[in-house]
Amino acid sequence: MPYIYLDNNSTTQVDPRVLEEMIPFFSTLYANPASNHKFGVEVNQVIQKARAKIAGCIHSKENEITFTSGATEAINLAIKGIAEAYSHKGNHIITVSTEHNAVLDTCRYLEKLGFQVTYLPVDTDGLVNLKDIEKSITKETILISVMYVNNETGVIQPIQEISELAHRNNILFMTDATQAMGKIPIHVDELGIDLLVFSGHKLYAPKGIGVLYHRTKRPFNVKLEALIHGGGHENGIRSGTLNVPGIVGIARACELACSEMETNQEKVRLLRDFLETELLQIEETFLNGHKTSRMYNVTNLGFKGVDADALIVGLKNIIISNGSACSSALIESSHVLRAMGLSEEDAYSSIRLSLGKFNTREEITIAIQAIKEQVKHLRKLSF
Ligand SMILES: Cc1ncc(COP(=O)(O)O)c(C=O)c1O
Repeated sequence: MPYIYLDNNSTTQVDPRVLEEMIPFFSTLYANPASNHKFGVEVNQVIQKARAKIAGCIHSKENEITFTSGATEAINLAIKGIAEAYSHKGNHIITVSTEHNAVLDTCRYLEKLGFQVTYLPVDTDGLVNLKDIEKSITKETILISVMYVNNETGVIQPIQEISELAHRNNILFMTDATQAMGKIPIHVDELGIDLLVFSGHKLYAPKGIGVLYHRTKRPFNVKLEALIHGGGHENGIRSGTLNVPGIVGIARACELACSEMETNQEKVRLLRDFLETELLQIEETFLNGHKTSRMYNVTNLGFKGVDADALIVGLKNIIISNGSACSSALIESSHVLRAMGLSEEDAYSSIRLSLGKFNTREEITIAIQAIKEQVKHLRKLSF
């Protein structure tokens, strides 16, 4: 039986149209875009076109797009880059306890260097409270970083309100949009985003390529200290020969995601709702995360008395997860679910099902049946 892949928040299949566009840049168009010969100039033009495509998707300027190896690197560059460049202004950063570890660990690292970080709590729905943010602002606050969409629950934070609050206090606002990019429209000016990051492999481009957007016009001309030094690529912000096939791939993926957003959204939302409604009919099953302020491709469900790891193993060819891929090898329960007030036991009983544009109704029907049977089976074993 082939896999039924319901772990699209972890990574996605490369769209064949993305792959097709990338192939020439491995074989015939392999010049270094930093070279000033004709061949290099030709490839550099392709890079600038790719930058323009991405800028078009988020309504930014082309020179505000920096290519990185992924969201983790972009997050490190943004947070450490801001901390260093604005240390003369202050040493305080505000973020949220349900952020991805790429944000949390970067902040913890900065704490070791003497920065102060506030990790705000969330309510039982996973939402951060604006009043809590306001109360935690000090004269030293230089950055507020709140993710757009949570990778485990799909909870969507009110980032426009948060950015307005940040700007009223003359503070930069950053968002980790890794799980939002390509799924919902992003307009950096309308949303008041000063720094934004995402990874290619979450939107049907390959792994190893990511983007950092940083604002260069009103209300802020954001300054960043580089993390990686070398040949001065990407305006000196991120040195290193550009990953040309990756850049071509992520740009094509953004273009496709933006132009096909409505169709994909409609299709995936229907499948997710079908899956969620059916699974919630299982006795003693609960939904983690806000009912409506939630991304349409995810459902995070807990099955009382069921060990999520056993469920994942038991489902064999149906691929699901119990949290973020990078931490699922750890024995600890999800820090996101724990921050939402779940008991250790309920967190261990929870799984994440994240759908993508390639899933079909037939697959979802099979998955529902299999999950229902496994939950029943595991509950029988434990009583
Ligand atoms: C919300 C969020 N931020 C950051 C990352 C890190 O992305 P990458 O591993 O591609 O660097 C992920 C990946 O799981 C994510 O879901």
